[in-house]
Amino acid sequence: MRAFLLIAAFLAGQALAEDQRQLALLPPAAQESLREEMLGNLLAINEILTLMAAGKIKEAGLLAEASLGQSAQGKHREKPFSARPGPHMPPAMHSIGNDGHVAASEFAKAASSGDREKALALLPKLTEGCVACHYSYRTR
Ligand code: HEC
Repeated sequence: MRAFLLIAAFLAGQALAEDQRQLALLPPAAQESLREEMLGNLLAINEILTLMAAGKIKEAGLLAEASLGQSAQGKHREKPFSARPGPHMPPAMHSIGNDGHVAASEFAKAASSGDREKALALLPKLTEGCVACHYSYRTR
């Protein structure tokens, strides 16, 4: 019985380990640009949460707009085509990215006005795009 349970648990783990996400093949240079941007995203989220916890709502809003909002779009525009992630993404993936910037700006707008309640209510907007894309796509 014990062995059976162990095998069942192992098989369940295997099923979960199988990656069902769609593979988006990006040129190596574009992957590198994306990775750099992503690490910046992670840092920004952490800083924004820290500011929110400290009651620095307006500062959190300004940082969110500059780092994750629509103001942060187009930062790869000057790079060679092969190093720009956006144009190499499947259109639906690119849309998730664009929507994420719009959502972050929604939070940023509320926070920049200093409205704590509204900013808190919109806080999950900062991460919904991250989750949507990461659960649908992989690059390797
Ligand atoms: C449009 C799709 C998309 C969105 C939106 C997105 N990511 Fe990513 N992210 C990726 C892909 C693809 C990779 C893998 C890049 C690679 O090839 O290494 C990645 C990688 C990462 C990594 C790993 C970097 C490393 O160390 O290699 C982190 C951390 C990360 N993303 C955080 C975030 C956060 C935080 C957000 C939201 C603010 C976010 N991502 C939004 C697609 C996305």
